[in-house]
Amino acid sequence: MADLQQVVMGRKSVRTYDGRNLTPEDKAKITEYAATITNPFDIDVEFRFLGAAEYGLSSPVLSGEKEYVTGIVDKVPYSDVAFGYSFEKLVLYAWSLGIGTVWIGGTMKRSDFEKASGLTEGKRMPCISPLGYPAAKRAVKEVLMRKGVKADVRKPVTEFCFEGDLTKPLEPQDVSGSIRRALELVRWAPSAVNKQPWRIIRDGEKYHFYEKKDVGYTSDEVGDMQKIDIGIALCHFTMGLEDEGLEYTVTINDPAIEVNANMEYIATVEVQ
Ligand SMILES: Cc1cc2nc3c(=O)[nH]c(=O)nc-3n(C[C@H](O)[C@H](O)[C@H](O)COP(=O)(O)O)c2cc1C
Repeated sequence: MADLQQVVMGRKSVRTYDGRNLTPEDKAKITEYAATITNPFDIDVEFRFLGAAEYGLSSPVLSGEKEYVTGIVDKVPYSDVAFGYSFEKLVLYAWSLGIGTVWIGGTMKRSDFEKASGLTEGKRMPCISPLGYPAAKRAVKEVLMRKGVKADVRKPVTEFCFEGDLTKPLEPQDVSGSIRRALELVRWAPSAVNKQPWRIIRDGEKYHFYEKKDVGYTSDEVGDMQKIDIGIALCHFTMGLEDEGLEYTVTINDPAIEVNANMEYIATVEVQ
């Protein structure tokens, strides 16, 4: 991808589109890229590209969009984390081509999108996104929505990343420039209602990722929306490491560090 730092820092959710379809070239690039996406959990995410008019699809928070992408996963443990990881890869790639997206997990008529995606028993379609070119000016409803969730603000790294346990925030000087830049990419990840529920505890070269759970984000249709957020954070971190030329592994092996009752261990990234 062109310049990862620029793509991640420059990306914003787009809810107001200019009414054009994707060009055939862009459509080809994005569908070809989607077919190559994998995630560390080896859980397949099947992407579907759907025309708004053809399937009668819309969302009350969007305007001017002509097409969508949805994703389908098996209802298995970690499918929400895997979905977050894989779908975010597509979101970042789209932005690198000048194509706008916005993660939508709530504000759409879910049953219409599930039907259009051909959802079958034992599977779920956690989120969707429009795909299109941003309009020159945001609709008023989008401006208000961004204000409501403080979409342009993020917690500093010291509020979500810790050294050894939760008592000591990770200070920038504790890690190399490469890791600092990768953590900055995590910082700017999108999340549902901009909650940024990722927490990271560093132990040497291991970065343990946790979900800080809020009430009301879990359902049978979506899985756990905040686990999707952790998948997104993992995607940003590992893409950042790759961008810095660092090798890593992702494993699931709870280090049994004492954490708060509302925190759940998700996965560990070990930098080689
Ligand atoms: C899993 C997930 C679900 C989301 N669901 C919605 C949604 O239903 N409606 C919406 O307008 N935005 C939704 N968003 C977008 C967030 O509000 C947005 O990413 C966040 O406010 C940060 O803004 P930014 O993406 O412009 O950086 C969702 C984001 C994520 C990651």
